[in-house]
Amino acid sequence: MAAPIEILPIESLELSALSLAVYGDPESELADLEASIRVDGVLVPLVVAPRDDRGLSEVISGNRRLACARRLGISNLACEIKAFADEPEKQRAMLVYNRQRRKRFSQLMREADLLEAVEQPKAAERRAANLRQNQNRPDRRNSDNRQGRADETIAQLIGLGGKDLYRQARSIWKAVLAGDTRAQSSLILLDREEKTIHAAYKDLRRRDRFSANFKPTPYDVWSFRHDRAFGIPHPGAIPPAIVAHTLYYYTNPGGIVVDPMAGGGTTIDVCASMGRRCLAYDIEPSRSDIKKHDVRSGIPVEASGCDLIFLDPPYHTMLVDAYGPETVAGMPFSGWVEFLEAVASAAFETLAPGGHIALLLANQTEKDLPRGFGYLDHAFYGYQAIVKAGFLPQRRISCPMSGAFLPQHVRKAREEGRLLGQVRDLLIARKPT
Ligand SMILES: C[S@@+](CC[C@H](N)C(=O)[O-])C[C@H]1O[C@@H](n2cnc3c(N)ncnc32)[C@H](O)[C@@H]1O
Repeated sequence: MAAPIEILPIESLELSALSLAVYGDPESELADLEASIRVDGVLVPLVVAPRDDRGLSEVISGNRRLACARRLGISNLACEIKAFADEPEKQRAMLVYNRQRRKRFSQLMREADLLEAVEQPKAAERRAANLRQNQNRPDRRNSDNRQGRADETIAQLIGLGGKDLYRQARSIWKAVLAGDTRAQSSLILLDREEKTIHAAYKDLRRRDRFSANFKPTPYDVWSFRHDRAFGIPHPGAIPPAIVAHTLYYYTNPGGIVVDPMAGGGTTIDVCASMGRRCLAYDIEPSRSDIKKHDVRSGIPVEASGCDLIFLDPPYHTMLVDAYGPETVAGMPFSGWVEFLEAVASAAFETLAPGGHIALLLANQTEKDLPRGFGYLDHAFYGYQAIVKAGFLPQRRISCPMSGAFLPQHVRKAREEGRLLGQVRDLLIARKPT
């Protein structure tokens, strides 16, 4: 029976002393994980022992997640509660969890590749022997699942549990090796232990979400949820349905889409799902299918003649801590407007006649407002920039930022009677033919 999962207050969880002694202080290796938890929360439940007589649960697996959650002020965490017969059994469990943690998913699957090469011929021999033996026994033909046995053996040898989980892992790995971009982005998360095999497998099966059964909304309000099947966690990741709708309405299958500020690669993964070709760049690439390029020096020549340029710049002053003060997020406002104008004009040069630009911009409502201002209307400045570059405006689509705030931010805004900014717009414009 599966261990129960409960949501526990963070104060009731304590780092395991043994884990600290064996694996060191988790504080020293939190940067990546913290960025991801800030965006997506803690995806995988911690494993904890039942409460002791002080009311505390010792963490068996998840010291790093707990340390990050404390830093980010998260108050509750999902925990799988595991009871142990005695202290040695608890310690062994902790070591086993950590032993598994120390091998990345891709390392395990490479081990499995080697084992497949050894185990599959053995399984084939066993199948042939089995067939010979049962030749005259119709009742026993097909009765023994020898392939299943090979999967079971390999799963055990690499420490991955049973054959079902191994088969899920295998299909993810096969898709990775076949060059499937979404499987490759899942692999990054699997290797960082920010996604479970089962979740990655489910994501892979959702690959057709924007192809065969895609039913686009006919309205110009695009309020969608994030979906981890597309892109890898990134401070500015957007719901993939925003990209999917843009591609549906403003490109054709086979068209070339360019994303010069690709972040976690949402555009790349949606393009793969919808049969569009994608060229992606970023000043700080997060994955191997994004090339390093600073859009302030224009858009690479190889993108010339493309059909759509999707622009999701770091919003002025928002997330400046995540992107760094030297990026456009940290510029004075006049510099930000100049940046918009330069990018719009580079996009105009690069697009094929009749091609589209899609520019996603949020209102600035919180920080660094000019004296007396309640907000800055970035869509207004974006509109001016694209018209100045020579584009013909087509549509302003409302893409509210649902769920972009942590519960503590919502609580604080309620206490202070303050509105939280969710207004975000996608401006679509066409290059004249
Ligand atoms: C809002 S995020 C894009 C998020 C992306 N749409 C996603 O869904 O993951 C903006 C990105 O612009 C990148 N960026 C900032 N300044 C840049 C520059 N000068 N040239 C290229 N990329 C830049 C940042 O590194 C960041 O990844």
